[in-house]
Amino acid sequence: MSGALLCAVDDVPEDGSQAFIAELGERQVAVMVIRKGDGVFVYENSCPHIGAPLDFISGQFLNHERTHIMCSTHAALFQIEDGFCISGPCEGDHLIQINADVRGGNVYVSL
Ligand code: FES
Repeated sequence: MSGALLCAVDDVPEDGSQAFIAELGERQVAVMVIRKGDGVFVYENSCPHIGAPLDFISGQFLNHERTHIMCSTHAALFQIEDGFCISGPCEGDHLIQINADVRGGNVYVSL
């Protein structure tokens, strides 16, 4: 068993998103957790081009159709599965993915 407890899977709406602070070693990191089907994806809440948080309303990281992560300021779109930016100022760049394991209905993160 490894990793720090971040949240329960049920703390994040199905096919939705939520914001948390992750304890990663010595660092506290603002992260987003996205659920898509059975998948759980964790990224730093920091845009690759200027390091700004992506959610204007806390925890709201998805576009209206819930198909992509969206920057609320620039409407940049990122793929949920790998954080790759498909449009916007940071097109071609990636969100920083955090190692995450789901065990017993909880999400654990590690460096
Ligand atoms: S802050 Fe980078 S796309 Fe909006």
